Amino acid sequence: MARYIGKEMSRVDGIAKVTGKAKYAAEFQISNLAYGFIVLGTVAKGTIKSIDMREAERAAGVIRVFTHLNTPKLDPKFSMVQAPSRATDEQDKSFRALQSDKIFFNMQPVALVVAETYEQARYAARLVKVSYNTEPHTTDTEAVRAIARVPTQAPPLEPPGNPEETMRTAAIETQPLVVEHTLTRGNPEETMRTAAVKVEAEYRIPIEHHNPIEPHAAIAVWQGEKLTIFDKTQGVYGVRAHLASSFGVPEENVSVLSPFVGGAFGSSLRPNYYPALTAMAARELKRPVKVVYTRTQMFTGHGYRPYTIQKVALGAERSGKLSTMIHEVVHNTSNIEEFSDETTLFTRQVYACPNLYAPLKITNTDLPTPTWMRAPGAVSGMFALECAMDELAYALKIDPLELRLINYAEVDPESGKPFSSKALRECYRLGAEKFGWKKRQFEPRSMRDGRLLVGWGMATGVWGAFQMPAAALITLRVDGTAQVASATSDIGPGTYTVMTMIAAEYLGLKLEQVKFELGDTKFPRSPSQGGSWTTASVGSAVRGAALSIGTKLLALANQEPNSPLKGAAAADVEMLDGRLRLKSDPSRFVNISGVMKRNGLTAITETFESRPSEEREKYATLAHGAQFIEVKVDPDVGTVHVTRAIEVTASGKIMNPKASHSQEIGGVVWGIGMALQEATEIDHRYGRIMNPNLQHYHVPVNADILEIETIFIEEDDKIVNALGVKGMGELGMVGIPAAIANAVFHATGKRIRDLPITPDKLL
Ligand code: MOS
Repeated sequence: MARYIGKEMSRVDGIAKVTGKAKYAAEFQISNLAYGFIVLGTVAKGTIKSIDMREAERAAGVIRVFTHLNTPKLDPKFSMVQAPSRATDEQDKSFRALQSDKIFFNMQPVALVVAETYEQARYAARLVKVSYNTEPHTTDTEAVRAIARVPTQAPPLEPPGNPEETMRTAAIETQPLVVEHTLTRGNPEETMRTAAVKVEAEYRIPIEHHNPIEPHAAIAVWQGEKLTIFDKTQGVYGVRAHLASSFGVPEENVSVLSPFVGGAFGSSLRPNYYPALTAMAARELKRPVKVVYTRTQMFTGHGYRPYTIQKVALGAERSGKLSTMIHEVVHNTSNIEEFSDETTLFTRQVYACPNLYAPLKITNTDLPTPTWMRAPGAVSGMFALECAMDELAYALKIDPLELRLINYAEVDPESGKPFSSKALRECYRLGAEKFGWKKRQFEPRSMRDGRLLVGWGMATGVWGAFQMPAAALITLRVDGTAQVASATSDIGPGTYTVMTMIAAEYLGLKLEQVKFELGDTKFPRSPSQGGSWTTASVGSAVRGAALSIGTKLLALANQEPNSPLKGAAAADVEMLDGRLRLKSDPSRFVNISGVMKRNGLTAITETFESRPSEEREKYATLAHGAQFIEVKVDPDVGTVHVTRAIEVTASGKIMNPKASHSQEIGGVVWGIGMALQEATEIDHRYGRIMNPNLQHYHVPVNADILEIETIFIEEDDKIVNALGVKGMGELGMVGIPAAIANAVFHATGKRIRDLPITPDKLL
């Protein structure tokens, strides 16, 4: 019987976090530290004409002002790219600061002022005067999409006669639409033409920014050719590789430490420009340097969810059976490199539908490069698809939940493979029951609470059950304590806790006898924390390392003549409370400390690398969920409140229900923010973000969050991995924006297809 796995556990690092003992990147105390402050540019495109830094250099405490004129070149040859759907190394074209006079986006770093104190650096940064040769820019994905063409296709539109407009159009015409990929199944064109019932609509998601509480920060310390850097990151190995190549030093010369991360959500999956910038300054000045982004600098200092335009057309029989799905996506990237959000990734697998056409196109804009942001691609793609399903339900006059059930995918529609497990039907059933869905009146504007309009909406959520290669080590000491380590990260989901639980479970120790460490390149290699794959990946490695220790102990025990475990197979032993015993007969055991002492060992260390099994390849592996939402809309002012949210998810085994519920509640909260509030506003005349702060970039506050209930349907799935764990951190958000938009339609009769659903759109 499991002692820890599956039980409610408080965070093992909780007390350290609330007492300030947990150190975040900027909090490490380093002597002789100098402080860097980033100067941001003020135009969207062009070149730097001149930089006058005389006044800044004369300011009190200033040590040096770095610009592209005095910054060494950083070698961009290597890279780290990890996305849910790809795990390949690609040429690193990511933006690096101060490498040339070229301006790629507004609020691009153009100088770094280093001074004796933070205040001196920040003050002097204002004294740096930069002038530019500007070029026409385009930051508006709508405009690019309207004019740009897919290379090899139709000729460009005639530029209009107005010269200013001609300049703008000229800029836009240089922006090709890159076809990332097209997914096709069956004969979508023909079947759409002949479908009995069709809906077609366009949906829009604005740029959105991760806004973790902890700002991105680094402290770099060089000792000769060796670099130690404290960094806020989701992947210490990625940062190490990035910095080693940037500075032309071997990877083992670079130590990256990131023991605590105050939220990241994808914004620290890539190294970003500041670690190299910080390390560059420290190397040049032969002195430790710290750089911390301001909240404003975070808006161009890491990526963002791209501006996404989606056209969805659905064709169905009168019975509700889908015949065709068309899901066309255009989203933006930068002018520096390509980034794909894989918006259509799950469209292929959600519903049983024989015909599909899903092209994804990417267009260049003069903005920073987007990146993965919680539930990347999935929450965007499912917003459009699940709203379109609701529209289809109304066109057919079929209950929206019923429509999902009619099109339930019993096997993976893309590959025909069976699912390793899929409890989505049970999620729908239980969610509907808890919510009281059958009391829903079908017609929009048919439910009220006094003067408020009441709307009930639902949607489906989906995410992958990803697993990546990962390694962990365990040192079991003769005193019955264990050190467990892996270079993963804990950006908040409770990785410290769950890894401690897994190790304690398989080592048969008490929780407090196990110490798990992460976030340091001195530990075995793990993937970046992202894609909701950490527990499946690193957890499997920790389990494997514990089992290896058991195997080692068994071999040692059985070298002894009278071993009670003689003839036992490694699979039939387990460790518990200091004993190695037979699972089939616990009265046959050895004392672990005795075996170690007789062999002269004070500790046993095992490193284990886990990989996804080949067995998985025979199955489709996904995590699912169903979301039911109640909104109340004030018809006079257009305000929307999400008064009730019930989310039922199925993501395999739930290791720690307490932390897992927190993950799913967080997903619902973010879904509410995405549906109703979040948008990065750009003034396209200047190509500049107008709300780079938490005053004007709105996220939910307590007053926006009412009743949320999260429920798990546990799946017994030993195919995904031995722990039976699927990803669940991102899953909780997927489906929520669509369910809210559908509820708003039900309340008001207004179909709002562009997020966020702000009051003005409902009046
Ligand atoms: Mo998550 S967007 O994979 O950090």
